[in-house]
Amino acid sequence: LTARRLYHPKVIEHYTNPRNVGSLDKKSSNVGTGIVGAPACGDVIKLQIQVNDSTGIIEDVKFKTFGCGSAIASSSYMTELVHGMSLDDAYKIKNTEIAKELSLPPVKLHCSMLAEDAIKAAIKDYKTKRTNPTVLH
Ligand code: FES
Ligand code: FES
Repeated sequence: LTARRLYHPKVIEHYTNPRNVGSLDKKSSNVGTGIVGAPACGDVIKLQIQVNDSTGIIEDVKFKTFGCGSAIASSSYMTELVHGMSLDDAYKIKNTEIAKELSLPPVKLHCSMLAEDAIKAAIKDYKTKRTNPTVLH
């Protein structure tokens, strides 16, 4: 019942039924992996994207979150947002969009920031792999 007071129903819904949980093959040349942690609480999000090399569209996305309900809900919502999106559009997603959708209170804003950092890190990882195909991950 504490959760009901702290969390908006949309957070509870994503937390109870998270979308796109899992992993993609980190070694695959068209998979980008972002792993980010929140210094404030120690929570960690791993978010992976699989990109169509010729179109630059995110065609699959998976996450694992070792963290609070808001971080799980933010990651889950982020995966729904970016699926089918171009890398450029996905890079522009702001944590405030996620926080607004999930009605996160100020104390939980950093949880949505973690999801923004994770997608940016995954996109950067993919782009690094594309420009340095010999780099081993
Ligand atoms: Fe408890 Fe983040 S501080 S899960
Ligand atoms: Fe730190 Fe949610 S409390 S990510």
